[in-house]
Amino acid sequence: MAADLERIEVGLRQAVEADNPFLTEMARHLIDAGGKRIRPALAITASLVTSAKPSNATDDVISGGVAVELVHQGSLYHDDVMDGADTRRTVESVNARWGNLEAILAGDYLLARASEIAARLGTEIAGLLASTIASLCEGQVREMQHAFDVNRTRDAYLTSISGKTAALLATSARVGAIVAGHPRQFVEAVTDFGYHYGMAFQIIDDILDMVATDDQLGKPAGNDLVEGVYTLPVILALGGPSGGELRELLGGPIDDATRDHARRIIRSDTVIDGTTETAVNFTDRARTSLDDLPQTPAVSTLRSTCDLLLARVAELPT
Ligand code: IPE
Ligand code: IPE
Ligand code: MG
Ligand code: MG
Repeated sequence: MAADLERIEVGLRQAVEADNPFLTEMARHLIDAGGKRIRPALAITASLVTSAKPSNATDDVISGGVAVELVHQGSLYHDDVMDGADTRRTVESVNARWGNLEAILAGDYLLARASEIAARLGTEIAGLLASTIASLCEGQVREMQHAFDVNRTRDAYLTSISGKTAALLATSARVGAIVAGHPRQFVEAVTDFGYHYGMAFQIIDDILDMVATDDQLGKPAGNDLVEGVYTLPVILALGGPSGGELRELLGGPIDDATRDHARRIIRSDTVIDGTTETAVNFTDRARTSLDDLPQTPAVSTLRSTCDLLLARVAELPT
């Protein structure tokens, strides 16, 4: 896996090389800043689920992994503009460094390069990536429509994260499996895994926004509350015993002191446990989809990925 991820790094940098050095610099900014590379790792692992003794991924699988990571990064460039976020992956966001217009253009450029790679992998992959980008937009628009809405429901939240996050994780796994030529039932099983893992992934990210620090995240913590994005922990807290107090604080723009006050209410409640339980249910469903696959090393890796995800919250100092 380490060697394959190194090939992803090389592929990412090659893919964003532009004629204009300024565009190349902006496009490389977040690639060089790091990141977990979950989506290419998922594509690679999904491509290996049939191997009893997995070797390296094929070049096409690596290209698929590069394409999904570029879609992710393009969406982060745009997301940081929408959220007004000034840090990402521990460094300055593209919008903070160069400006919003620059970040939008560079984000478009990353999406375009992803589409170019996908087209080389065939019409099915090209169509899949295009429809995933559409899902991302749907999810983000649904989130925007509920900005500062203290009556946002759990269902509205789940529909939004399904589009903005789970769709791309499902596609990452699916691309790996399709490009590897796996039988359809295996393609569906890993897609199902990626989708439910992706739901849990966003829920954990939303918990971390409430409980972790800027340093632990490498991006601004508590920003969801400031942006009026009321995620599952907030929705549960609003319906809990301190809901009335929280409702007084939220519903509009807030200063840092109010944000910290709101975060304390959300953290002091049983809501973090309740939210984690929902994430656990999604990882359980992700694991169940693996039952239809041969029990190979790659499938074990997918199982342990679920444990690692849940550990991100458990391991934070309280
Ligand atoms: C951040 O994704 C956006 C979400 C979907 C929560 P990651 O947590 O995968 O970000 P990087 O790629 O590691 O920076
Ligand atoms: C993920 O949501 C955004 C995308 C899927 C583009 P967040 O807004 O929670 O992501 P972070 O927390 O800024 O990484
Ligand atoms: Mg954001
Ligand atoms: Mg977040």
